[in-house]
Amino acid sequence: MKIIMLGAPGAGKGTQAKLIAAKYNIPHISTGDIFRANIKTGTPLGIKAKEFIDKGLLVPDELTLDLIKDRFLGADCINGYVLDGFPRTLPQAEALAASLAESGEKIDYAINVDVPDENIVNRMSGRRACLKCGGTFHIKYNPPVKEGICDLCGGTLMQREDDKPETVARRLEVYHEQTQPLIDYYKENGVLKTVDGTQDVDKVFSDIVDILG
Ligand code: AP5
Ligand code: MG
Repeated sequence: MKIIMLGAPGAGKGTQAKLIAAKYNIPHISTGDIFRANIKTGTPLGIKAKEFIDKGLLVPDELTLDLIKDRFLGADCINGYVLDGFPRTLPQAEALAASLAESGEKIDYAINVDVPDENIVNRMSGRRACLKCGGTFHIKYNPPVKEGICDLCGGTLMQREDDKPETVARRLEVYHEQTQPLIDYYKENGVLKTVDGTQDVDKVFSDIVDILG
């Protein structure tokens, strides 16, 4: 099963993608997590990506496409994957469709986690992320058992650099300009499903399971 998560920054794509990956036994592939891991270890890709991410801008398509094509070669992708944060532009979506078409494949579902902008800033300011395993929590809506410590791996939870309110505002603008058009793109492809992302985490997930079966 090949799934794409669509939605604004902070809509809950990562939160839901992790639950989907665990239930359907497919890898969760987050381009944002891959960039952050590269930034942390100071790779050439990480150094380039950081310039854009810290400003709330998208990393250029060329860099992102090289990274994702490489990730798709992983043996764990044989039964599909859940993509979180990719594609994010029409050229990325078209490149993905073209590369799948080469082997007669296609995306099965594009799940749009719908959350209005008003709710987003709240979510971002309370988000805490584990830099070690990518686990995501919220101080109020989804708190870890022990404050500041990741439930999943025991790592330290941090606030993301790009979760400052002014950067969040820029990310939302970029989302509306460059990523939102993908909703129509996947609607035309007949694979779009929308869920109400303002509900609590478990309810959003059960709506997604109803769609995926
Ligand atoms: P990325 O890491 O993908 O960031 P994003 O799209 O901005 O999304 P977020 O990770 O911020 O939000 P999310 O939807 O995953 O929400 P989450 O589940 O954490 O990308 C970062 C940057 O990398 C981009 O800005 C760009 O520069 C670059 N990049 C990445 N991919 C790229 C690409 N393809 N092309 C070019 N550049 C790219 O939830 C948010 C918070 O809300 C959490 O605290 C969570 O606990 C809480 N929460 C979740 N669900 C609920 C709920 N139902 N109710 C209450 N709280 C909830
Ligand atoms: Mg995320």
